[in-house]
Amino acid sequence: MRSLLFVPADSPKKLDKAMTTCADALIIDLEDSVAFDGKANARDSAAAFLKSAVPAAPRPYIMVRVNALQTGLTDADLDAIAPAKPDAIMLPKAEGGASIMHADAKLSVREAINGLPDGHIKIIAIATETAASLFVAGTYAGSSARLSALTWGAEDLSAELGAQTNRHADGNFLDPYRLARVLCLAGAAAAQVPAIDTVYVDFRNNEGFRRECEEAAREGFFGKMAIHPAQVPIINEVFTPSPASIKHAQSVIDAFIANPGAGVVNIGGVMYDQPHLSRAKRLLARAKPARS
Ligand code: COA
Ligand code: MG
Repeated sequence: MRSLLFVPADSPKKLDKAMTTCADALIIDLEDSVAFDGKANARDSAAAFLKSAVPAAPRPYIMVRVNALQTGLTDADLDAIAPAKPDAIMLPKAEGGASIMHADAKLSVREAINGLPDGHIKIIAIATETAASLFVAGTYAGSSARLSALTWGAEDLSAELGAQTNRHADGNFLDPYRLARVLCLAGAAAAQVPAIDTVYVDFRNNEGFRRECEEAAREGFFGKMAIHPAQVPIINEVFTPSPASIKHAQSVIDAFIANPGAGVVNIGGVMYDQPHLSRAKRLLARAKPARS
């Protein structure tokens, strides 16, 4: 999953438009982009959209960002959307594996009520939005088989830390958010799920956006969340392995196949050992098409 496009659940126009983009996944948002008084209307709109979009094929992966467990709104969100069988929920303000187990239990009940197989609805967690969450970013492993990815957020975290801003004037993140970003990356790797990079709100600045995508791809993120359709093709391009990198990864794998039992090989005067082999395998796995 390379590109995940946020769409406010209370906008049928944007929901329809989102289906025409090449986003690998849509995040139908019931949380921060919907005002408190609009939650009920947004739930109805999300459910109606899911009912028409989920049976379509081909289609993007479709998840719903519910309101955080801390708000008391999550149950009503799940009651509204579970009958329409989303692929996943996105859980904001998650605080480690305990939050995932909590959401897992809530989902199991809705799946039973709606005749869905146990574990059908997956969970993608936003792992860095509260101060407390940073200290439990390493606790996601083994929390639930539903956990499919971790992502991170800098907006709520900066509000919680009392910060004036979360980026330098040049657009780069300040230290607390770089730490959060790394904790997401390491937390995801420890839990053996992909890490997805956060949003870039300056959505007319394609140059800055591309730079941030490239940095995230180099560091190990599998994809990035988008807030505007124009960001989707840039994400897809940057996070798709290039033909040259696929060819190189295949040559590393071939060298180990040609030297059975070897722990280390020489390709054109450069040493390759086990971490290089696993990187090559991961790159090839990533090169497969994302849409079902
Ligand atoms: N999903 C689907 N369609 C979108 C979209 C999105 N996230 N963002 C914009 N569009 C549509 C617009 O409706 C518009 O459609 P039209 O050409 O048919 O009129 C078109 O894309 C161009 O949009 P544009 O005029 O450039 O921007 P805007 O002022 O309409 O919207 C935002 C700007 C920021 C309000 C909008 O991009 C948005 O709602 N983003 C998602 C916000 C969100 O979910 N935040 C929570 C996560 S951080
Ligand atoms: Mg938020």
